[in-house]
Amino acid sequence: MPIIEVSGITKSFGEVRALRGVDLNIEEGTVYGLLGPNGAGKTTAVRVLATLLVPDTGTATVAGYDVVADAPALRSVIGLAGQSAAVDEILTGMENIEMVGRLYGLRPRDARQRGGAILERFDLTFAADRPVKTYSGGMRRRLDLAASLVGAPKVLFLDEPTTGLDPRSRIGLWEFIEDLVDEGTTLLLTTQYLEEADALADQIGVIDHGKVIAEGTSDELKSMVGGDVLDFQVADRHETEAAAAAVAGIGREEPRIDKANGHVALSVESPVGVITQAVRRLDAAGIKLRDLAIRRPTLDDVFLTLTGQTIGDEAEPEDVPAATGPGRGHS
Ligand SMILES: Nc1ncnc2c1ncn2[C@@H]1O[C@H](COP(=O)(O)OP(=O)(O)O)[C@@H](O)[C@H]1O
Ligand SMILES: [Mg+2]
Repeated sequence: MPIIEVSGITKSFGEVRALRGVDLNIEEGTVYGLLGPNGAGKTTAVRVLATLLVPDTGTATVAGYDVVADAPALRSVIGLAGQSAAVDEILTGMENIEMVGRLYGLRPRDARQRGGAILERFDLTFAADRPVKTYSGGMRRRLDLAASLVGAPKVLFLDEPTTGLDPRSRIGLWEFIEDLVDEGTTLLLTTQYLEEADALADQIGVIDHGKVIAEGTSDELKSMVGGDVLDFQVADRHETEAAAAAVAGIGREEPRIDKANGHVALSVESPVGVITQAVRRLDAAGIKLRDLAIRRPTLDDVFLTLTGQTIGDEAEPEDVPAATGPGRGHS
């Protein structure tokens, strides 16, 4: 039986239809990745499930509790780390953690013990006794995550947990997540990055414009794109369409283009010989390139395949955690 069951949830903010009928079933003890671009409805969905927002229509239960009718009882079995750090500036890191532990009903000594272990996990031991107002942005973010874990929640919601984390803390978080899930916690995390969902999630739901438009394992989603992707950028973006026409036929589908920045992407069956062929054709057409590469499918490709649209400017490649392709190694 699923531990999170969501059926037909809608939520509007005035004219904005943030959720347009979301259905989800998440099995106990698994990691579910809700993947989508900025504005897709991820935070709204998490806030509904964490009882912070009341949906307009539809029903949702978490750990057997209705998110509206049983909200107070539900709050004691869930943890939430949001996009904006919700920690008290005046208190020290340790005091914040203890306070949250106490809210979850831990005894003072247990809250302190567990808090110490969690702070260590997030590299915050050195600052445990400093007021949060002296923390950097990354430290606050880590403390917010630490606080969401102190109650050993049955269900944990992490809204874009690695946004703003340095690589070391990101790895610490991933390890912590694995331990938690081994102990039986169910995790719903949101992300803009397929690579992150890939690394952590058993099951991924792709959300766009308030609807889940595809669901599956990472491999299942990537196989929707199929094969590797030939990706290049033309030096003069006015030549984007001409470049796409020149390489059409190399792949099995029409090239996908982004005229705003001169990008062309094209799924290929096998990478063998593709670069040579593409460069030759583009050269024959007199088109100059800025760069060209073969890479694994990304969220953008999955998203493009599903919607025919680009994901927007928010997810620049250099922001992608553990990126494959050219970005690897200098994060
Ligand atoms: N409190 C709010 N008031 C008005 N509009 C909102 C509010 N919260 C979210 N929205 C809008 O709802 C849509 C979904 O937002 P959100 O759930 O934050 O998306 P995501 O987390 O995927 O970026 C966006 O268009 C956003 O601008
Ligand atoms: Mg959000």
